[in-house]
Amino acid sequence: MTKRRRAAGSLAAGATLLVTACATPGTDAAALSARSAILADRFQAELQGQLMAAMQAGGPEGAIAVCQQAAPAIAESLSAESGAQVRRIALKERNPAARTEGDLRTRLEQLAANPLSPDGMPATMTWTEGTGRKARVHYLRAIPMKAQPCAACHGTSIAPAVQARLAELYPDDKATGFKPGELRGAIAITWPAGKLPPAN
Ligand code: HEC
Repeated sequence: MTKRRRAAGSLAAGATLLVTACATPGTDAAALSARSAILADRFQAELQGQLMAAMQAGGPEGAIAVCQQAAPAIAESLSAESGAQVRRIALKERNPAARTEGDLRTRLEQLAANPLSPDGMPATMTWTEGTGRKARVHYLRAIPMKAQPCAACHGTSIAPAVQARLAELYPDDKATGFKPGELRGAIAITWPAGKLPPAN
């Protein structure tokens, strides 16, 4: 599972991205964007449910293992079900598989500049890479940092026992020191070529 996520990550990193256009209403890209939003909602709802239950049962120290197992498992099952690649990415990552390069990283930097859209919801981006049979639709949704419950594991003042557990599981952890409102990461959904009919 981790292997697959890593491989997919480096594939995205190595790809030369040809951005053609943003999604416009009435296109298949718009339909895939709407389907992506549903997947992103489900990802967040399922993970949040498991995280909150684990926090109540065992505090942040105990909940770390749940995050470690649940997040990749949810991503995997939503990917298998939808045919899209569903994952979480970050500029400062905890799981090395969340690291991203190239065009995706540039877009993530743009989201970091404005993690919220004007209506106060997490900002999103949809774009098409390539044309015709090779067209792939990408969707990003910002995951803003919150005080509760995120700060216990990603904030500026993390309890020593939590820190120790994180260091053990993620020796290269970069995902601490975040303040509420900053971009913690994003849900990234990529629809494979073939999901769109050839444009010309
Ligand atoms: C109990 C500790 C804990 C809490 C609380 C927590 N996280 Fe995490 N977070 C983790 C762990 C552990 C990972 C790595 C998961 C993995 O291995 O895929 C992670 C990974 C992430 C990632 C994926 C990118 C990366 O850096 O690997 C994002 C995005 C994220 N967390 C956002 C949040 C947000 C937003 C909140 C609050 C709603 C939150 N987390 C609360 C422990 C926590």
